[in-house]
Amino acid sequence: MSSPSLDSPAKIVVTGRIPDSGLDILRAAGDVWAWTDDEPIPTDVRDAQLADADVAVTLLTDGVDVAFLAAAPKLKMVANVAVGYNNIDVAACTVRGVTVTNTPGVLTDATADLAMGLLLMVTRRLGEGERLIRSATPWKWGMFMMLGTGVQGRRLGIIGMGGIGEAMATRAKAFGMKIVYHNRSAVDAATEERLDASLVSLDELLATSDVVSLNCPYSDATHHLIDAAALASMRSDAFLINTARGPIVDEAALVDALRNETIAGAGLDVFEHEPDVHPGLLELDNAVIVPHLGSATVESRDAMADLAAHNVTAVLAGNPPLTPVN
Ligand code: DGY
Repeated sequence: MSSPSLDSPAKIVVTGRIPDSGLDILRAAGDVWAWTDDEPIPTDVRDAQLADADVAVTLLTDGVDVAFLAAAPKLKMVANVAVGYNNIDVAACTVRGVTVTNTPGVLTDATADLAMGLLLMVTRRLGEGERLIRSATPWKWGMFMMLGTGVQGRRLGIIGMGGIGEAMATRAKAFGMKIVYHNRSAVDAATEERLDASLVSLDELLATSDVVSLNCPYSDATHHLIDAAALASMRSDAFLINTARGPIVDEAALVDALRNETIAGAGLDVFEHEPDVHPGLLELDNAVIVPHLGSATVESRDAMADLAAHNVTAVLAGNPPLTPVN
């Protein structure tokens, strides 16, 4: 998308609380109005500010839809502070000539670390063990107490071999796992060789993997990719890890599969109706559930805000954005 011409100074509306480093970069580029509360911005407050905004800096919890765009007649750019941009109607933005950017790369390691953490938590029953002690239930060491599953030599199937999928593969390989992946196209030969990874069909990945990790973007094409049939095709001793987006998984079907032990367990950072979590998951010991913490390190969140702000700076200077989506 060509760089828009903007009034000077541009009005930049930041719709959610972001780190100060990003705000400082934005303040050097235009007139910034920022919502600084941790609670979501009320729609009427947001729309009043969008009325004369040139740029919106948004979070993944902001729906940038037709109504959002209608409230912002002058808008030329949406800078999402997230790698995922399923919260944005990119087609509608493109029709309106609105440039959209995201923040890939800077949260790759944090998210892969969390995915590996969930993998270890669920296979080694760490959440269950923690709950046992916190509940003050009497316990003592036992040869057969709370046995988990070792990961060495096990097959990890990665769905979505972008940066985060690759970083997950690197970690899992260091833990002695064997890697297969499913992706629109094969990664380059050097990466396949480094990871000793091979491209397989989705059916083969689901049927043969000991752990399935979701690292793909969410779109119409991946909505409920993991449904009841996909879960039924997995091994009964397999685990599912989701650090991508909740609606990739049919959460009700997952609860059934975990309850009936169609699969062995799941480690989830994201949920279909976030922030709501299916009540069934709360009762299941074989589900490890954490509140969308993938990129939640100080370093990553600073870098995400900075990258979003640098995208804004670039566009306001008439240059192409660093990480364009459209
Ligand atoms: C993203 O940036 O899309 C992540 O989900 C944030 O944690």
